[in-house]
Formats: sequence, C-alpha cells, structure tokens
Amino acid sequence: MASRLANKWVLITGASSGFGAAAARQFGAEGARLLLGARRMDRLEAVAAEARQAGAPEAHIHALDVSSTPSVNAFLAWSRERIAASAATPEAVALDVLINNAGGALGLEPIAEGRDEDWETMMQTNVLGILRMTRAALPLMVNNPGGSIINVGSLAGRVAYEGGAAYCGAKAAELQITKALRLELSGTGVRVSSVDPGLAETEFSLVRFKGDAAKAKKPYEGTFPLVADDIAEILVWVASRPPHVNIDEMLIKPTDQAAIHKIYRRKTV
Ligand SMILES: NC(=O)c1ccc[n+]([C@@H]2O[C@H](COP(=O)([O-])OP(=O)(O)OC[C@H]3O[C@@H](n4cnc5c(N)ncnc54)[C@H](OP(=O)(O)O)[C@@H]3O)[C@@H](O)[C@H]2O)c1
Repeated sequence: MASRLANKWVLITGASSGFGAAAARQFGAEGARLLLGARRMDRLEAVAAEARQAGAPEAHIHALDVSSTPSVNAFLAWSRERIAASAATPEAVALDVLINNAGGALGLEPIAEGRDEDWETMMQTNVLGILRMTRAALPLMVNNPGGSIINVGSLAGRVAYEGGAAYCGAKAAELQITKALRLELSGTGVRVSSVDPGLAETEFSLVRFKGDAAKAKKPYEGTFPLVADDIAEILVWVASRPPHVNIDEMLIKPTDQAAIHKIYRRKTV
C-alpha cells in the first residue's frame, strides 16, 4: 500500500540535527516533499541530500530562526512559493504537516544562579517559536482537512527537575499551547499533537552545556537513551494516521528511564 505521506508537504523546524534531521530522512523515505528550516545551512544541505536519497521527491532548505518573527514569516512566504511551484490549482497550495521541533535547553543552573540570556532563548525558541510558526503556517493548513500540526514537547513539560525551571516551564507551555490550538482548530479537520520524549541522545546535551563534551556525555552514561530515529518514527506514525484520528499526546521514554529521576545505569554498557 502506498504511504499516506507520499507527495504530502511536510515542514520541519530544527531539521539540521537530532530529531528534526532524522524526521527529514524518515518522512523522505515515505515519499513526502520536504521544507526544512534551521539556522545552520551547511547542515541542512547535508540533511536534504540524505532525505532525497531516502526517497523524498523534493527536499528544500531555507534559513530559519524561530526566535525572529520576520525570519518565520519569510520562511513561510518561501514555503508557499515552493508549494505553489508544483501545485496544479490554487486550492492545491496547502501544507499537510507542520512539525514544530526547533528548540532545546540552555544551562542547568538553579533559579538562584539563572542567566537572563538562557531563559530568554529557551522561551523564544520552545514557546514563542511554536506560536510564531503556527500563526504563519495556519493560512496554508486550515483549508486542508487531514493536515497535522505536531509540536515536540518533553517529559520535562510534565515533571519538573532541579536546574530545569525555565526549560520545564517552556515545555509545559508547549503542552498548553498544543491543547489550546486543538480547541481553536476544532471543525477544520486539522489534527494537533504533542510528542514528548524523555532522555534522548542528540546534540541536545551539547547545546545545553554550551559545547562542553564531557558534561554533555554524563546524562547518557551507563544507560540506553532514545535515539533520534526512535522519535522520527513516532512523528511519521502520528502524521500518517487516518484523517479522523488525532493522537493528542505521546510520552516516549527509554526503557531505562522509569521516571525523570530514576534512570537505570549499568557500570559499563
Ligand atoms: N534530546 C532530548 O533529550 C530531548 C527530550 C525531549 C525533548 N527534546 C526537544 O526535541 C527538540 C529537538 O531537539 P534535539 O534533541 O533533536 O536536539 P538538537 O540535536 O540540538 O536539535 C535542535 C534543533 O533545533 C534547531 N534550533 C535551535 N534553535 C533554533 C532557532 N532559534 N531557530 C531555528 N532552529 C533552531 C537546531 O538547529 P540550528 O542550531 O541549526 O538552528 C537543531 O536543528 C527540541 O525542541 C528539544 O527541546 C529533546
């Protein structure tokens, strides 16, 4: 059976690494047409080439900074042009899947030692980025029943941990934004989902610890974390349910992570 995602237009933010890059490859393998955004263009170029090799009939890239409204709006104007270039009719100019994945954490200091710049970046990317991207993409989606908006949240949005106040707060906001959007889009046929991973080994930790590779390795020591492909597989599955099925929320943890503070660690892996 042909994939439900064949020739669908899929927009992925934060496609230059981690979940976003893996999702580009896996949606590509389903025959989806891709619009990929992030700040690092060289990385996006490589991901788009891999996605084409995996089977994407089209994979386009454009610089995107979700913390900037002009950048988001320019990205969506470009997306509209790319879609229109191969649309047979004006009604066919539509986006099928929006994956709001760009984001991350910065620092692990308690609030008493928190830095304004880190807090502001986390709110800009994880919270305002989703709002901006969604607002800009909605005109391409509301007349397209069966479309999907998938926001990448986190276990951290459901359970707080020390040093995670701003990140946990940002991801808790993501979950509430997802719920509000689902209410607002009721009747349009557009699905709205939150995919919430636990511990996953990507560049997340390297970014959180600002390039300190030794610190970045620590959370994964002695345990088997999720990998980017695990979450990409979930994103593909959520987006490819039949149009009348909405996956509201999914929480995905590694088997070794029974709870946010209880991670099974072996002496050697
Ligand atoms: N790894 C985990 O344990 C974990 C668990 C739960 C949730 N998450 C969430 O999953 C999402 C993806 O993270 P990941 O684990 O795949 O980490 P990652 O490998 O660091 O990827 C993060 C992606 O976000 C992009 N990004 C960051 N700031 C951006 C901005 N201002 N504008 C546009 N793109 C931006 C990065 O691209 P550029 O730097 O090129 O812009 C990169 O492509 C994030 O929302 C993260 O919070 C991660």
